[in-house]
Amino acid sequence: MDLLTVRALDALIRGVDALPVTDHPFFFTWSPQATYRPTVLHGGEGVYLDTDDGRFLDMGALVYQANAGYAHPKIVSAIQSQAERLCFAMPGAVYPEKTELAQKLLAHAPPGFTKVFFTLGGSDANENALKMARMVTGRYKLVSRYRSYHGATMGAVTATGDWRRVAVEPGIPGVVHVMDLDHGVEGTQIPRVLELEGNVGAVLLESIVGANGVLIPSPDYFAKVRAACDAHGAMMIVDEVLVGFGRTGKWFGIEHWKDENGEAIVPDMITCGKAITGGYATLGAVLVHERVAQRFEEQCLVTGMTHYAHPLNVTAALATLKVYEDEKLIERAATLEAPFRASLERMREKMPDLITANRVRGLISGTDLTFDADGMNRLDEELRKRRVMTHLKRRVNALVLSPPLSISEDELADGMARVEEALEAVR
Ligand SMILES: Cc1ncc(COP(=O)(O)O)c(C=O)c1O
Repeated sequence: MDLLTVRALDALIRGVDALPVTDHPFFFTWSPQATYRPTVLHGGEGVYLDTDDGRFLDMGALVYQANAGYAHPKIVSAIQSQAERLCFAMPGAVYPEKTELAQKLLAHAPPGFTKVFFTLGGSDANENALKMARMVTGRYKLVSRYRSYHGATMGAVTATGDWRRVAVEPGIPGVVHVMDLDHGVEGTQIPRVLELEGNVGAVLLESIVGANGVLIPSPDYFAKVRAACDAHGAMMIVDEVLVGFGRTGKWFGIEHWKDENGEAIVPDMITCGKAITGGYATLGAVLVHERVAQRFEEQCLVTGMTHYAHPLNVTAALATLKVYEDEKLIERAATLEAPFRASLERMREKMPDLITANRVRGLISGTDLTFDADGMNRLDEELRKRRVMTHLKRRVNALVLSPPLSISEDELADGMARVEEALEAVR
């Protein structure tokens, strides 16, 4: 019996109207399948994506990874020539691009970082950082925020504070969530929680919270967290999966924070993913500080994957990071912050009934909207009509924008005009 017949019978038996049917033989993520609206994707160039519904201006960088834009010839040809040169490797293999990529990542990390552990994406970067923290501290407890997303695998999703955690609870043991950055919550609860909880092995935090609405901690936040971790023997792990590689106008979001002496905040580990390859391949990484790395000189590092540092992914990352450097895309994100912020603020002044706040850093913004669910659906439609892709965060009533860092000022102005028109049309 085919799927259609099964569904029709099911509908008959249960006395409900025939269910909508998707005819795709694969799952769509984080969604009921029947109501999902997929995008039929053909290709892309620069900041544009070609779909069945026409050419879209991408103000979202797919899901925040396409920082170099689409069809970049240098990245594409690097992958092609790597495929011809060396297209396989065992985890223990050494080859030049692997070494070069690790060196480049460490060169952009805060002072004292000496080793890289490669992963397949952001979730398993967090997963492996948590494993390393357990191995080094001998403690299993973890503190993270409710307002966070850290990935879909069991450990990372347990650390996650948002709705995606709840479906698979109880998850891993020992995770304590704090209210930091939630509406109306000032400062940080972490020092007090570490004290009361005892035996916490790690604190896992996004530097700037991305998918939960772009939340930016106060200037003294990370100095306090660092001091509390030091006082209580917990590892400080900063999740840069979404904002790392230039999204905020710096290589890593944590660089926006300094301690009271104006020195860099130095975490114990930094997790990366997404824009490390610009979306051209799939890779993540854990950057590890010397004080953690040296522990594994004698102690066994009990973790690894079959596709650890696969050459195609490594080369894609190396070529992408070179594009970020050569084309000064990270500086560009910092420069474009001013016009980006100005146009968002203009919209807020024009539509104070719709827009209650903008949070902007580099080329990522979170805009709080007063729409109800119906308003959000209508906004979605109006944005689609204007062929502009964004991130509509229905659960936190926010619009998140994150264009490729390669966007020109004119393209950015065009994107902002389309967003403004869509908001006005819903109003
Ligand atoms: C902050 C953060 N951490 C981790 C992840 C998980 O990364 P991935 O989806 O590549 O596994 C994401 C993905 O959205 C993220 O935004």
